[in-house]
Amino acid sequence: MDQYIIKGGNPLVGEVEIGGAKNAALAILATAIMTDETVTIENLPDVRDINVMLNAIEGIGAMVERVDAHTVRINGSMISNLTVAYEYIKKIRASYYLLGALLGKYKKAEVALPGGCDIGSRPIDLHLKGFRALGAAVDIHHGLISAVADTLRGTHIYLDKVSVGATINIMMAAAMAEGKTTIENAAKEPHVVDVANCLNSMGANIRGAGTDVIRISGVERLHKTDYSIIPDQIEAGTFMFAAAATRGDVTVKNVIPKHLEATTAKLIEVGCEIEELDDAVRVVASKPLHHTQVTTLPYPGFPTDMQPQMSAVLAISEGTSTITESIFENRFKYVDELTRMGASIKVESNIAIITGIEKYTGARVSAPDLRAGAALVIAGLAAEGITIVDDIYYIERGYESFHEKLESLGAQIEKVSTEKEIQKFTLKVS
Ligand code: EPZ
Repeated sequence: MDQYIIKGGNPLVGEVEIGGAKNAALAILATAIMTDETVTIENLPDVRDINVMLNAIEGIGAMVERVDAHTVRINGSMISNLTVAYEYIKKIRASYYLLGALLGKYKKAEVALPGGCDIGSRPIDLHLKGFRALGAAVDIHHGLISAVADTLRGTHIYLDKVSVGATINIMMAAAMAEGKTTIENAAKEPHVVDVANCLNSMGANIRGAGTDVIRISGVERLHKTDYSIIPDQIEAGTFMFAAAATRGDVTVKNVIPKHLEATTAKLIEVGCEIEELDDAVRVVASKPLHHTQVTTLPYPGFPTDMQPQMSAVLAISEGTSTITESIFENRFKYVDELTRMGASIKVESNIAIITGIEKYTGARVSAPDLRAGAALVIAGLAAEGITIVDDIYYIERGYESFHEKLESLGAQIEKVSTEKEIQKFTLKVS
């Protein structure tokens, strides 16, 4: 099993290039099968979840051609199978985007029902409510969701809760429905906008993405496009928090600074200096950091996907901070691991109360999920001594070349898989 081994204490300094947004890419790959023409997608992150999604797309008979690590061509004209197997859903929930895509294009789809996951129970009732409102008969049997319609008809849909996944899934199906659909209380995340932009470049007619009312005029057919995915705001934010935790000076490049505003605001509150450039943000953490209060909220609020990384910084910032997690109920699993590194964090219901300590001490810890794993790496980079992070499989689901990028900023980090490699690293850094 691969692990990261880290010798902490080096401030991160330099520039790092941010890749394409994983969560935008997962949905955009699904939209690519909605036309029989060839869609080219660029700036795709080369991470595990994307590769699983590409396998799921091949699994239904679409043609997938990897042009290079970050570019793929997809042709959905040969799709022969409208059932997405559990094998994919089990690995990535986002393969449920194929439900909206297939339903929109073929008016029929079957996708295995995703289970709960490491960050909590994750219902998809709102996705299904949307498909039903569009006129599909949706049924769950033997672990499969099946959705079928003679005709999908545009309608008015109010989402009871702001959901990225439901907004995108419904938007995809409605793009090829008859007539007009309005989605109210829609998610406003940058990746919702990116998916809408991609669909529009394929001939869809979607207005209002990025606001809480999205209006879609259905079209009969979509066509080819070349589309480049937006930068990953969560990857960028992770490096920004790593800079803060190590008291470094890092410029994250190839980002859209507007997408990072909530992260930037919190870093300023804790005492970092931030410089915003056209497509880069520089974080300088030269002074002692102090406490703050954070509540996770849908965009433009503070993202739940940045919550563990923010905790990793607050745990070594002076004073008492709180983090309220309002999106997922089980996103504090990393707290016990940070505690093993010396952090003082108490979780009460959905609030983490963090009393800043001076320094982490390196320990052996396990990544409980993707973002929590990144937070443990951040803690390891700031810690005294050596940290080993197990289960980095999770981290590799969403971060491309994570340790190489950190190394290029001056971190002492290596990916290892044997006791011998651990010893070698330990000798090298001691
Ligand atoms: C997306 O998940 C992201 N995943 C998550 O990122 C991210 O944490 C989340 O949005 C919130 O920003 C992808 O884009 C692939 P939601 P999603 O539907 O779409 C409830 C990462 O680390 N809800 O916006 O599944 C739900 O339980 C991942 O990259 C319903 O009640 O999230 C949650 O409380 C982890 N019914 C809230 O809405 C539904 O039908 C928001 O979830 C759907 C959601």
